[in-house]
Amino acid sequence: MSIIFILLVSLSCEAVNHGDRKTYIVYLGSLPKDDVFSPLSHHIGILERVIESSSASNLLVRSYKRSFNGFAAKLTDRERERLAKMKEVVSVFPSTSYKLQTTRSWEFLGFNEKLKRNPTVESNVIVGVIDTGIWPESESFSDEGFGPAPRKWKGVCKGGKNFTCNNKIIGARFYVGSSARDDVGHGTHTASTAAGNPVKGVSFYGLAQGTATGGVPSARIATYKVCGSKVCATNKILAAFDDAIADGVDIITISIGSTSAAPFDRDAIAIGAFHALEKGILTSQSAGNSGPYEGSVSSVAPWILTVAASSTDRRIIDKVVLGNGRTLVGNSLNAFELKGTSFPLMEAKDASSECGDCDAGCLDPNLVKGKIVVCRWAFGSIEVRRVGAIGALSESIIPDVSGIVPLPAASFSSKDFDVVKSYVNSTGKPRAKLLKSEVIKDLAAPTVASFSSRGPNFILPEIIKPDITAPGVDILAAYSPVAPLTESVEDRRHVKYSFLSGTSMSCPHAAGVAAYIKTFHPNWSPAAIKSSIMTTAGPANITDGSYWPGVFSYGSGHINPLKALNPGLVYETSKDDYIKLLCSILDESKVRLISGDKRPCPARTGKKWAKDLNYPSLAGKVVTESSFSIQFQRTVKNVGLANSTYKAKTISKRGVNIKVVPQVLSFKSLNEKKTFNVTVSGRDIPSRTYVSASLVWTDGTHSVRSPILLRLVLV
Ligand SMILES: *[C@@H]1O[C@H](CO)[C@@H](O)[C@H](O)[C@H]1NC(C)=O
Ligand SMILES: *[C@@H]1O[C@H](CO)[C@@H](O)[C@H](O)[C@H]1NC(C)=O
Ligand SMILES: *[C@@H]1O[C@H](CO)[C@@H](O)[C@H](O)[C@H]1NC(C)=O
Ligand SMILES: *[C@@H]1O[C@H](CO)[C@@H](O)[C@H](O)[C@H]1NC(C)=O
Ligand SMILES: *[C@@H]1O[C@H](CO)[C@@H](O)[C@H](O)[C@H]1NC(C)=O
Repeated sequence: MSIIFILLVSLSCEAVNHGDRKTYIVYLGSLPKDDVFSPLSHHIGILERVIESSSASNLLVRSYKRSFNGFAAKLTDRERERLAKMKEVVSVFPSTSYKLQTTRSWEFLGFNEKLKRNPTVESNVIVGVIDTGIWPESESFSDEGFGPAPRKWKGVCKGGKNFTCNNKIIGARFYVGSSARDDVGHGTHTASTAAGNPVKGVSFYGLAQGTATGGVPSARIATYKVCGSKVCATNKILAAFDDAIADGVDIITISIGSTSAAPFDRDAIAIGAFHALEKGILTSQSAGNSGPYEGSVSSVAPWILTVAASSTDRRIIDKVVLGNGRTLVGNSLNAFELKGTSFPLMEAKDASSECGDCDAGCLDPNLVKGKIVVCRWAFGSIEVRRVGAIGALSESIIPDVSGIVPLPAASFSSKDFDVVKSYVNSTGKPRAKLLKSEVIKDLAAPTVASFSSRGPNFILPEIIKPDITAPGVDILAAYSPVAPLTESVEDRRHVKYSFLSGTSMSCPHAAGVAAYIKTFHPNWSPAAIKSSIMTTAGPANITDGSYWPGVFSYGSGHINPLKALNPGLVYETSKDDYIKLLCSILDESKVRLISGDKRPCPARTGKKWAKDLNYPSLAGKVVTESSFSIQFQRTVKNVGLANSTYKAKTISKRGVNIKVVPQVLSFKSLNEKKTFNVTVSGRDIPSRTYVSASLVWTDGTHSVRSPILLRLVLV
């Protein structure tokens, strides 16, 4: 299991146990606006009203009081039930554990040395990274050439033992362990992808040589360590949001998530990101690594930018030459040189008296000495390394990702693995050569990775998730030099730059793009930045050949930072719009706690708030026997040329009709807004299927594209 684990990340869902008490998060909404409010005594006061024994302050785990209101506490079931009924409580939900989910990827996105930049403004942008901490001594975070922290910065450097900040890493906090130092590698990797300095001459054992850089290399980094080596407690994630928002970060990147979507009032990241949005901070989150299954996306809130993972045109492969002369292409990151020598092949079943494969403890070191072992699955290479054999061949677990192997090894598609097996079976003395990995150009890129979590959004089907896709396969970036490279304890290699794959890697690319856009448009709202990223996204490939529409894999498409700088039109979504949406999902009293606002919910006179949320993509459900019709309303704001005229263009399959009213939008000034309606209708389309189409507003220069997705259900 181990190799997947390093690469990709997922959830275990039990609340942290304390005897018969478990840790729960008690979410109370916005902070009250009165000055005399004292959160800590308020939280203890609330606790005292429900606890059956012990003292309230002993049961309080932490208070959220800087950016929103709430606390985490150890509660019994009865206490939890009583709290959940209190009128000042929005929700009570268990604190669970979420898991963590170069050189070339930014160039692939069009960032080269000639890129237009705004370095002075960029150095005022602060990227908040909620992750496993950071390796502060990495060259990617050197502060050479950086001035003091921007004046707006209100955070601190509380990195703990032996951790110093500088003018690049301007803030550090940790909620786990004894310091903000990263001994996992994940947080160092994501931080450097979003905002690392350009560092020349980087490679992984000579592979993929080049300059490693982040999307906004002049920006500052604030690190919030919430994860230990494997898990990230949600009560700590919320504490990090509480601090990061108050500290004054501009963008939050969080490559952490659950394996299944939760309602918004029980999803710690959705809650934190909502209060970030209120302060003008966009949160970028990984879609999850639970693909390619339908509905596996766990980041579903409309105020979050949810990022799928796709390939770049640089892939890493490793070749194997069988004794019969046949060369096969494997997908492993094999940094070892065996100098073209061939070695005998041996099947795992012949190397063990106990078991038939390369499971832990199975192989006999004496039998495999000097041999290349053929294992069923790629994680068998850990056992092969343990017993000291020469190398391993196996079937890939995730055929479109190249994982780092602890010894010379290659894994193959099932078709190629069959070739290996029949070769071994066909000769008395099978042999093979294992070649060091090499870099190839992948013309099919960008292709959404199989592991990337897919839609539809089961919590709010009217919002397409993921929103976009960005590079997340075979990404080389800074790493923690004390972190292991593989799960093999015998593999004692350590590096400063390493390869990782996952939506964890695509998320900081999107955060870097958002920060880049912010340097040119400092006053744009999080929704405008998100809209510009989504409506300018380009085409992406899918490989799973599934019957589900591609939109489920890549949302609006592949991120295109250069186009996103100048989208022409944006879909603005305000806090009020999200509040209206919440009004259609939650009780009014809870919505008022969340918004911190006494205004009542608008009357729900036939208005479908979710469908008509001013989102840059359009989705809905239609009930159909033979024909259907659904109308969406949207408003766009002109951020292109003052004087401009946009025409609507629609793309749909036969049998589907899209009517846009009006067909033409004429703007006379910047920031002018225009509203339009889109009616999608059709007949004789099979029920229980999806209709996917798109709407493009174009003025001849800009193309403002929105995917449309309808789910057809039976009456
Ligand atoms: C601080 O951490 C660095 C990196 O692990 C190490 O090289 C150094 O010796 C540590 N210093 C102290 C005083 O522990
Ligand atoms: C190996 O070869 C034998 C005889 O040629 C055949 O019966 C057997 O099915 C083969 N096994 C595999 C795994 O291909
Ligand atoms: C998808 O892959 C094919 C090759 O498999 C390639 O020809 C095509 O250009 C790719 N599409 C995109 C959008 O990159
Ligand atoms: C906009 O276009 C109209 C007609 O082409 C022209 O009369 C007007 O001066 C233009 N306004 C601006 C601000 O460019
Ligand atoms: C859009 O539809 C709504 C509701 O049917 C209607 O009130 C409004 O006038 C329409 N707007 C346009 C621009 O046609």
